[in-house]
Amino acid sequence: MRLAKAGTIEIAPSILSADFAKLADELTAIESAGVSMVHLDVMDGHFVPNITIGPPVIAKLRGVSGLVFDCHLMITEPAKYVKAFVEAGANHITFHIEAVDKPQKLIDELHELGCTAGICLNPETPVEAIETAVPLCDMVLVMTVHPGFSGQKFMPEAAKKIAEIREIIGPEIRIEVDGGIDPQTAPIAVSYGADTLVAGQAIFSKSDRIAAINAIRAACE
Ligand code: DX5
Ligand code: ZN
Repeated sequence: MRLAKAGTIEIAPSILSADFAKLADELTAIESAGVSMVHLDVMDGHFVPNITIGPPVIAKLRGVSGLVFDCHLMITEPAKYVKAFVEAGANHITFHIEAVDKPQKLIDELHELGCTAGICLNPETPVEAIETAVPLCDMVLVMTVHPGFSGQKFMPEAAKKIAEIREIIGPEIRIEVDGGIDPQTAPIAVSYGADTLVAGQAIFSKSDRIAAINAIRAACE
C-alpha cells in the first residue's frame, strides 16, 4: 500500500468527522467510492488542543482495511512515535515542521522504516520553513485551517502557498491540502497545484458518503 504516483487527483477522507463507533463500516463505505487512501488525524492535546487516536486504534483498522493509511501527526516530538505508527500500519506519515528541529533526519528515518514521508505547515508558517527539506519528502501537506478540529472554514490566503510549493518541488511530489475542503473550495486548491484533497465534514456530515466523495471529485474535473 503506497501513495499513488503524483499527478492524479486523490481524495483522502478524514475520519475525524466519521462515526467513531462504526469506523470499520466507514472505511468500507469510502473504499466503495473508489478512494485509495484514508486520512487519520492523530492529536495529542499538546501540539493542538484536541485528542484523538493513536497506534492501537490504527492497528485495529489495519486489520479491516486495505486503504493507504495517511497518518497526520499533530503531536509534539513526532520522532519518538513514528516507529509505533508504522508498526500499527501507517503507510504514509506526515509530521509538522513546527514540531521538529531536524526534518531531514526524520524523513530519512521514515524511509528506513519503509514508510513514505510528509511535511506539514500551519497556515501561519511560511514556505521558507520547509524549503530545504521538502524535495526529500513524498507529499507536502498544506493546512488551510488551524489544525485541531474538523468543520472549520477554508483559509484562501493559506491555500496560495500551494502554488509557491509546487514551483519549488515540480510535478513529482504530491501536495495535499487539509481544512475546509468541499466541492466549492477543492477546485481552488487544485488550481494552485494540489492533487490530494483531505475532506472531513464535506464527506462524513452527509448521510451518503459515496455521493459526497463523488461531488468533490466532479467539482475538480
Ligand atoms: C484538522 C484536521 C483535518 C480535519 C479536516 O486539524 O487535520 O484533517 O479533519 O476536516 P474538514 O475537512 O472538516 O475541515
Ligand atoms: Zn488532517
